[in-house]
Amino acid sequence: MKKFETDSIRIQTEKSQFREHSTPIYLTSSFAFDNAEHGRALFAEEVEGKTYSRLANPTTDEFTAKMIMLENGEDGYAFSSGMAAIFASIAALLKSGDHILSSRAIFGSSYQIFTALLPKWGISTTFIDKEDEWEKNITDNTKMIFIETPSNPGLELIDLEFLSNLSKKRNLILNVDNTFATPILQQPIKFGADLVSHSTTKFIDGQGRTLGGVVVGKKTLMEEVRLFAKQTGPTISPFNSWVLTKSLETLGLRMEKHCSNALALAEKLEKNIHLEKVKYPFLKSDANYKLAKKQMNLGGGIVSIEVKGGLERANKFVDSIKLATLTANLGDTRTIVTHPASTTHSKLTEEERQQVGITQGLIRISVGLESIEDIIYDIEQALENSK
Ligand SMILES: Cc1ncc(COP(=O)(O)O)c(C=O)c1O
Repeated sequence: MKKFETDSIRIQTEKSQFREHSTPIYLTSSFAFDNAEHGRALFAEEVEGKTYSRLANPTTDEFTAKMIMLENGEDGYAFSSGMAAIFASIAALLKSGDHILSSRAIFGSSYQIFTALLPKWGISTTFIDKEDEWEKNITDNTKMIFIETPSNPGLELIDLEFLSNLSKKRNLILNVDNTFATPILQQPIKFGADLVSHSTTKFIDGQGRTLGGVVVGKKTLMEEVRLFAKQTGPTISPFNSWVLTKSLETLGLRMEKHCSNALALAEKLEKNIHLEKVKYPFLKSDANYKLAKKQMNLGGGIVSIEVKGGLERANKFVDSIKLATLTANLGDTRTIVTHPASTTHSKLTEEERQQVGITQGLIRISVGLESIEDIIYDIEQALENSK
């Protein structure tokens, strides 16, 4: 069997008559028919072939095939953004009256889907904080468990094996947002997850160029997700698929470097006197260290720190940064510093943020691929200058 490093480079759509070496972009909204009968047969799915890019596109197919391979899925569909992917993975499979269990520490927009949007269609969600609460909160209407591990931005971990077993026992769909880990570090389907969703905008793109998302998983579930997506249209642009399929050729290499830089930064910051705490799954002192070692190959590219002195100090720290970029994205070659409470998680109430540890002093660092000495220098000087 070929290794994933090989397949993420070598899976390629059939070459055109030009025998291009690199992946071509099929930047077209539709595909021509040979004649009237051919058009009818294509739409009747009696013959193989593409018709319209909302339904299928060769460049997108290549990207999706690689994601299916990397995540050990049976099928997949690529979306215009991570949120489009996550929303489709829920909306396609649930109906009015259904109930979801979700880990509480999830991305702000996912939280908004559960609290502000799904209730409009009669779908309710219970948020879970501790492992022993999952089973207790399953009701006759519970259909799906949704989790994000590691979580954005607090780097909380959820035990994939435990929840896979529980989902199987209680006949629930386990849907995992694997954005922070990427399939290089963690493959939820191997533990028994049914669906895996991603914001490909992050590490999978890796250079902050495109928005995108993907859902991969069981064939029977993906049939519903595909039907939903084909009819409602949150489809990815073939151009973005092309960027992403090229990005996957270097994902393994990039993740190794993101992770070694992040671990080095976390270890250095652990001793910094200006910090309340440093969170990184592969730090021996981290509460999730044992679980991280069990289900992740490396600790990921994100380090979360909490500065002493709350919002005022956090603002001074952010304003003292010289090398890193101040922006709300993550997973880029360039190191990024974000203050989640005022940006990515600003739509949550202060109480909701406190429940998941997003204090006013919390800073998310997406550790890039620059020299680790330069990254450490920048963070340390900003901490020193924010006193
Ligand atoms: C864990 C996680 N899931 C989903 C998303 C949403 O992705 P997108 O911005 O591509 O819609 C993000 C974005 O930050 C994220 O961090």
